[in-house]
Amino acid sequence: MTDIVTLTMNPALDISTTADRVVATDKVRCGVPRRDPGGGGINVARVLTALGEPATAVFPSGGHSGRALEDLIASEGVRAHTVTIRRSTRESFTVNEDRTGLQYRFVLPGPELAAVEVDACLHALASTAQGARFIVASGSLPPGVPVDFFQTVADVVSGVGARLVVDTSGPPLRALRRGVYLLKPSIRELRDYVGHDLRSVDDQVAAARAIVDRGVCAVVVVSLGADGAVHVTTEGAEHTRSLHVPVVSGIGAGDSMVAGIVFGLTRGWELRDAVRYGVAAGAAAIGSPGTALCDRAEVDRCYALLSSGGAGET
Ligand SMILES: Nc1ncnc2c1ncn2[C@@H]1O[C@H](COP(=O)(O)OP(=O)(O)OP(=O)(O)O)[C@@H](O)[C@H]1O
Ligand SMILES: [Mg+2]
Repeated sequence: MTDIVTLTMNPALDISTTADRVVATDKVRCGVPRRDPGGGGINVARVLTALGEPATAVFPSGGHSGRALEDLIASEGVRAHTVTIRRSTRESFTVNEDRTGLQYRFVLPGPELAAVEVDACLHALASTAQGARFIVASGSLPPGVPVDFFQTVADVVSGVGARLVVDTSGPPLRALRRGVYLLKPSIRELRDYVGHDLRSVDDQVAAARAIVDRGVCAVVVVSLGADGAVHVTTEGAEHTRSLHVPVVSGIGAGDSMVAGIVFGLTRGWELRDAVRYGVAAGAAAIGSPGTALCDRAEVDRCYALLSSGGAGET
């Protein structure tokens, strides 16, 4: 049995490398490639495992890239329940240009899933989630997955008796109607959701409260990048500031934040403390080099700094 299950419908094998310059037409000679697991729910499971709270990652996996992804996850000690699919898991390709420090990120669409494969993922989730307390569904949806898929997940999860956390964007986010415990849009995603600018904190809180009032979820945590997060429930709203962190890499800040929040909730912490732990995990990820997410000691250090009252320097 596992307390936390994550679901990633559009995982990726992330390949990153370096090149002196990225130019058209000529061959761009690259450095030694590095392979990392990618995809929202997979990253959340990786961070939770690193924090000492094991999670099981459920995801579709196909071809050589799928097997490579499974091996990488296993080497980090992350439990997985995979659904074998006919097409290959997608690969994402990042080139860091040495001369300029610019980063070029090429993101491919995921493999199209057949209806039976989508159903198999739901079954895998339902069986893994028996007895679990939190389910985290995170990331985009590949072709072939209905836009209201996360609503189907919410219906499955309410049957299991677990709490559902969703981190997604665009039409799959808009298609949610009920049954979610916590939604974690970034401010950019919330803006897309409401279709207009959200300049003041009051505007942001009102937009998040409208989602809670419609009964979609109990909690909305809006992540605000360097400004931390604001969380809204029927009882009120609270802003949690982040730390002043030198931005080393933006990779995985949101996923680390979700993992931090779920870590706190699993331990029975109050929502505000769990959100603060999430903000600490996001800050720790921002300060970690390359594709590294965050480690427990750094998250605890950031959390202690935040709890001692300050958005101080790290
Ligand atoms: N520059 C920063 N300085 C300090 N903390 C940060 C910074 N950027 C992100 N964080 C932390 O990480 C959390 C998540 O970051 P962010 O709001 O960018 O979400 P995201 O999901 O990565 O965004 P998106 O999905 O739109 O790319 C923030 O709430 C904050 O706690
Ligand atoms: Mg995000």
